[in-house]
Amino acid sequence: MTRQFPDGFLWGAATAAHQIEGGNVASDWWKLEHRPDGPCAEPSGDACDSYHRYPEDVAIVAGLGLGSYRFSIEWSRIEPEPGEFSRVQLDHYRRMIATVLDAGLRPTVTLHHFTSPFWFTKGGGWARADSADRFLRYCETVAPLLTEAAYVCTFNEPNIAASFARYFEPGYVAPAGLPDPDSRISDGLTRAHLRVRDALRAEVGPRVGWAVATQSFSGVDGPDELSAAYAYERETRFLEVAVDDDWLGVQAYSRTIVGPDGPLPVSDETERTLMDWEYYPEALGSALREAHRIAPRVPLIVTENGIAAADDRRRIDYVRTALGEVLTAIDDGVDVRGYFYWSLLDNFEWAHGYRPTFGLVAVDRDTFARIPRPSAHWLGAVARANALDAD
Ligand code: NOJ
Repeated sequence: MTRQFPDGFLWGAATAAHQIEGGNVASDWWKLEHRPDGPCAEPSGDACDSYHRYPEDVAIVAGLGLGSYRFSIEWSRIEPEPGEFSRVQLDHYRRMIATVLDAGLRPTVTLHHFTSPFWFTKGGGWARADSADRFLRYCETVAPLLTEAAYVCTFNEPNIAASFARYFEPGYVAPAGLPDPDSRISDGLTRAHLRVRDALRAEVGPRVGWAVATQSFSGVDGPDELSAAYAYERETRFLEVAVDDDWLGVQAYSRTIVGPDGPLPVSDETERTLMDWEYYPEALGSALREAHRIAPRVPLIVTENGIAAADDRRRIDYVRTALGEVLTAIDDGVDVRGYFYWSLLDNFEWAHGYRPTFGLVAVDRDTFARIPRPSAHWLGAVARANALDAD
């Protein structure tokens, strides 16, 4: 059976500046990666050298037949020291956006994807009293570049950013797994999002939203009070912020089952991805329904979904099931406007370094050669047909 996606459904692949560009030396993560007691398995280094090779990346996205490229602008390049804005870096991203448009793609642009300038984080980050002002000033500086964007995303996964912020606290020793979110940081991100959303709408139109990590929290026997309470600070409050946004990004990978003492470990019999997450593509369906329940009037975009897999065939299986979930959600009345696979390229997976391979395209770590996998061609065929075959 073939199932059709709605007309105009936007297909894309996603990346983020720090994870692919390389040499992001003025950012807070660059510093973190070089701290001997830090949480990172290895430094980002040259990453995929996309700072120079972006035309090749863009050509791959276009060649596959996708309609949009999601990438981020790096604040720490634009404003490496407080108030010092770099014309050269603005020109860089202007050229990059022109390259995306010339390839016939629509840019989907993230303004903050986990990394901030080191000076900003050193001064307290999102807990600073002036954090929204500082972020707004950067966003207004890049706003003239955004007029052709399909969607503008203020923050990528503010809920995970509120956890990552702990890594920068003096003397903080990282536990295994994700630290608990810092609510002062969550508040700061929320304030900054709302300020920037209102300001940017005036300049780029009603295309502004943010993208939340949706983690399909539930109890052992389904949603319950305990899991809802656990989810509130980690996800729900960030979905609630989006009720008046122009769109809401859903980023689903797996699920989290919560017991009385927190998340339960994934059992040994369960298939895991290279992130050690449960292989559970159905998470995308529950994530879309949850986002729709909380923000029913807001169009949803799957701004990220994907798998770190050693076997590319498992990637195709995963995406096929996830896309089936998207179609079922649409049939049930959820307004889903697009799907972006994470990620276009194998890249720097934060604390995990380069080991987990999410890419539709492999990257040779010595030569930076891009090698599209069969899953890239498979997803391109789905996008061109705007339809999913059952097998
Ligand atoms: C969410 C983040 O936005 C992205 O940076 C990360 O690489 C993927 N998920 C996979 O963990």
